[in-house]
Amino acid sequence: MSSFPVLLVEDKDSLRGMLRHALEAQGHVVVEARDEPEAIQHLRQSRPAVVLTDLKLPTGDGFGVLRAAKELDPELQVVVMTAYASIQDAVTAMKEGAMDFLAKPVDPDHLVLMVERAIAQRRILSEYILLKEELAERRGAPRIIGEDPQLRHVLRQLHRAAGTDATVLLEGESGTGKELFARALHAFSQRADGPFVAINCAAIPEGLLETELFGHEKGAFTGAVGRKPGRFEMAHRGTLFLDEVGDMPLGLQAKILRALEEKQFERVGSASSLYVDARVVAATNRNLKARVAECQFREDLYFRLSVFPIAIPPLRDRAVDVPILARHFIERFCRDLNKQALLLSPAALDELRAYGWPGNVRELQNCIERAVILSDGDTIHRRHLNLSLPPAEPGRLDGEQGHAAKATPADGNPFAQIDLSGTMTEAVRRVTTVVERLKLEEALRNARGNKALAAAALQVSYKALLRKQREHGIGDT
Ligand SMILES: Nc1ncnc2c1ncn2[C@@H]1O[C@H](COP(=O)(O)OP(=O)(O)OP(=O)(O)O)[C@@H](O)[C@H]1O
Ligand SMILES: [Mg+2]
Repeated sequence: MSSFPVLLVEDKDSLRGMLRHALEAQGHVVVEARDEPEAIQHLRQSRPAVVLTDLKLPTGDGFGVLRAAKELDPELQVVVMTAYASIQDAVTAMKEGAMDFLAKPVDPDHLVLMVERAIAQRRILSEYILLKEELAERRGAPRIIGEDPQLRHVLRQLHRAAGTDATVLLEGESGTGKELFARALHAFSQRADGPFVAINCAAIPEGLLETELFGHEKGAFTGAVGRKPGRFEMAHRGTLFLDEVGDMPLGLQAKILRALEEKQFERVGSASSLYVDARVVAATNRNLKARVAECQFREDLYFRLSVFPIAIPPLRDRAVDVPILARHFIERFCRDLNKQALLLSPAALDELRAYGWPGNVRELQNCIERAVILSDGDTIHRRHLNLSLPPAEPGRLDGEQGHAAKATPADGNPFAQIDLSGTMTEAVRRVTTVVERLKLEEALRNARGNKALAAAALQVSYKALLRKQREHGIGDT
């Protein structure tokens, strides 16, 4: 018995009626379709657990149904029926992902058995994923929060990738969780007991990146006093995470490509090759394809990296997850800060939902951390969220209307309406946070997104700028 229905796709009324009867007699709920378009409609609406489809249909065919089912949910079990007992068609269908086939005339008992096996298989598969997640969590894997169907799809892809040694490319805006997913991928994989080694290609100056990646021998260059292993070596039998790979200088890209293809490389200043067995996971918040078109990224390396591409959708496209993540972070920060559990006021929740989250989950996390620190009662209100300004109206000191902090230079005192509640530290922190963010945004805007220029204008180091950008959840412009 299953809470999800069985989708039965068969154009012949008498046969469909007979099969339906046999399944219902065993307690299954059956949804019927006569052709491919009807089947596709039911796939979306009824979310069946198993699909049983004739290969020959008046409109479309069983292969179309199979493809649509697998596209919607790769774990959906599909059994095909074929009137001609044509092994060739059945084999083709199984190659395309069908679980099994039934030759007509269909024996109802055989059919019921197969449907039950398919349901059991599906259950085992989802239990397996849950168990693996639980096991990985116990081994210290990060917890990925979210119920949005898009996120669940990404998780399924992640599990599938974890079972292979293929290079994975994680693409997503800043703060969507690329590093979190890379760590989870490692923890779910066979290499979980090996090292996870990360390197941020954007944060390391070009001249140092090569020795960071490949290491160097003693005396390889002035200042190379000892031999130093690179990240590639350190990741032996583990996972190497190439973060912000889109920022990798062109010259190094060729060396990375060779290390990936031949699994060997040389330390700087050494003639002998080293062999490494590292699974590479790369991440980028840029459109790598566009970088290829601009000749900023080697096409061959792009193909090599994107064997298994996984796109992480931005938070604004995962509406379901905003309240879930917000509650998760509230709980976490209350625990970390030793505060009593806080509630979220309905107006605050509305505001979280309405906001666009350009800095994605990291911005939401920072926003909640700030709110937990600022709130003095048992509830987080809108004023505690201090949400960033809508992009169309830069320059205001508050976020939305309804905030307590509102600077109006016209009334003589520009700070007259700033929210002064809480302790001195809290009030000062509230203002400096907003000013810092505005300043960063302005500098990045003026520098047209060039971080080195923005850092120079702000007179902070490149690294400090990256850190601040991260803290404020400001993505690349
Ligand atoms: N689904 C999620 N569940 C729980 N925490 C999440 C989730 N997604 C992201 N986070 C948290 O949000 C923060 C940002 O995530 P992460 O650093 O992985 O993003 P990123 O895509 O690598 O960002 P960037 O491009 O800026 O490097 C981290 O603290 C991470 O733990
Ligand atoms: Mg990152």
